[in-house]
Amino acid sequence: MSAPSIRRLALLAAMVIMAFAGTPGVMAEPYFQGPKSCEECHKDEYKVWGETKHFKAYRTAHKAKDAKKIVAAVGGKKNMKRNKSCSVCHYSTEQKKPDGKAKVKYGPSCESCHGASSDWEVIHSDYGGKNVKRENETQDHKVKRIADSFAAGLAWASSSYEIAAKCMKCHGLARSEISGGAFAKMLEAGHPINQSFEIVMFSQGKMRHWLKERSPAQLSKLFVAGQVAKLVSATEAAAKTEDAQYKAAQMKRAADAKAALQAVPQAAALIATPSEGNARKMMQTIGQQDLSGQVGGQIPCAGPDKENLKQC
Ligand code: HEC
Ligand code: HEC
Ligand code: HEC
Ligand code: HEC
Repeated sequence: MSAPSIRRLALLAAMVIMAFAGTPGVMAEPYFQGPKSCEECHKDEYKVWGETKHFKAYRTAHKAKDAKKIVAAVGGKKNMKRNKSCSVCHYSTEQKKPDGKAKVKYGPSCESCHGASSDWEVIHSDYGGKNVKRENETQDHKVKRIADSFAAGLAWASSSYEIAAKCMKCHGLARSEISGGAFAKMLEAGHPINQSFEIVMFSQGKMRHWLKERSPAQLSKLFVAGQVAKLVSATEAAAKTEDAQYKAAQMKRAADAKAALQAVPQAAALIATPSEGNARKMMQTIGQQDLSGQVGGQIPCAGPDKENLKQC
C-alpha cells in the first residue's frame, strides 16, 4: 500500500474510533480516577474542594434529615452509597485501572464537574513533550491540547456549556440515568429542588478554586451557559414522566431559564427547540462575545446585593 493510502486508512480508523467513543460497550467507557489523581498537580484546587459541601457530603449526606425516608420511597439498597438512585449525585467514584472496579469513595469531586478523566488526564497536562515547560508551549500546541482534551471529555471554562450541564443535571434533579418515576418519588418524600440554583452565584464563593477572579464578560458567559443548561435539562426531564409535582418543578425551571434568555438574541433557536445540539451551537456562536451588557444585571453576584448572598 502506498504511504498516502496508509495515512488515509489510519485517519479512517481514528474517525471510526471517535465515532464510537461515546457508545457504551464498543470502547472502554471513560472512568473516574478520583480526586487524589488530580491533587498531585492541583494542590490548591484540591485544598479548596476539601472545604466545600461537595467534599463533606461523603460523610454527611446520609445523616441529613429525611435521607432515610427518601431512600425508602425510591426503594432498592438502604445505604445511600450503595443505592445508585442516590450515589450518582451525592458521591463520586475512584477506579484505578481500565478493567478495575469503580468504588464509591468521595462526595461530588473534580471529575463530577470536569468529566471522567481517564481519556484526557495525560493529554491536558502535556505542553508538548517531557521537557517542555508551560512558558515554552507553542500557541499551536496549546490550541490543539485544549481541543483534544475537550474531545476526550474535559469540561471547563472553554466549554462552559458542558460544565454547566453537569451542575444543572445534579442540582436540577435531571440526570438521565435516573427514571422520572424515581425522581417523582424522591420529590414526594421531601427531596429538595432548589429553583434558585444559579451557577455564578453557586460557584464564585467558597467553591471558587481558581486564582484569577472572572471578568464580567466571563461571568456573563457562565451565567448564560447555566441558563442554557437549565433549559435543556429541564425540558428533557419534564418529558420523562407524567407525575404532576415533578413535571411542574421542571416546567418552572424551563420557564425561568427561557425568561432569563430573552435578553440574549442568539438564544432564539434554542428557546424554540431546546436540545443539547442547539445549546452547543448557541454557545459556539457566542464564542468570546461580551454579553455583560445584556445579562449582567441578572447575575446575582455581580449585583448590589452581593454581600447578602451566602454563596458569593
Ligand atoms: C501531571 C499533572 C496533572 C494532573 C495529574 C492533572 N492536571 Fe489538570 N492541569 C495540569 C496542567 C499542566 C494544566 C495546564 C495549566 C495551564 O497551563 O493553563 C492543567 C489544567 C487543568 C484544567 C484547566 C484546563 C486547561 O487546559 O488549562 C482543569 C480543569 C484541570 N487541569 C483539571 C484536572 C483534574 C480534574 C485532574 C484530575 C482528574 C487533573 N487536572 C489532573 C496538570 C495536571
Ligand atoms: C439528580 C441528582 C440527585 C439525586 C439522584 C439524589 N439527590 Fe439528594 N440532593 C441533590 C442535590 C443537588 C442536593 C442539594 C440540594 C440543595 O441544597 O438545593 C440534594 C439534597 C439532598 C438532601 C437534603 C440534604 C440536606 O443537607 O438537607 C437529602 C436528604 C437527599 N438529597 C437525599 C437523597 C437520597 C436519599 C437520594 C436517593 C434516593 C438522593 N438524594 C438522590 C441531588 C440528588
Ligand atoms: C462543583 C464543580 C467543580 C468541582 C467539584 C471542581 N471543579 Fe474545577 N472548576 C469548576 C468550574 C465551574 C471552573 C471554572 C469555569 C469557568 O470559570 O468558566 C473550574 C475551574 C478549574 C480549573 C481552571 C482554573 C483556572 O484558573 O482557569 C482547574 C485547574 C480546576 N477547576 C481543577 C479542579 C480540581 C483539581 C478539582 C478537584 C480537586 C476541581 N476542579 C473540582 C467546577 C468544579
Ligand atoms: C454529581 C452531582 C453534582 C454536581 C455535578 C454538582 N453538584 Fe453541587 N451539590 C451536589 C450535592 C449532592 C450537594 C449537596 C451536598 C450536601 O449537602 O450533602 C451539592 C451542594 C452544592 C453547594 C452547597 C450548597 C449550600 O447550600 O451550601 C454548592 C455551592 C454547589 N453544590 C455548587 C455547584 C456548582 C456551581 C456546580 C457546577 C459547577 C455543582 N455544584 C455541581 C451535587 C452536585
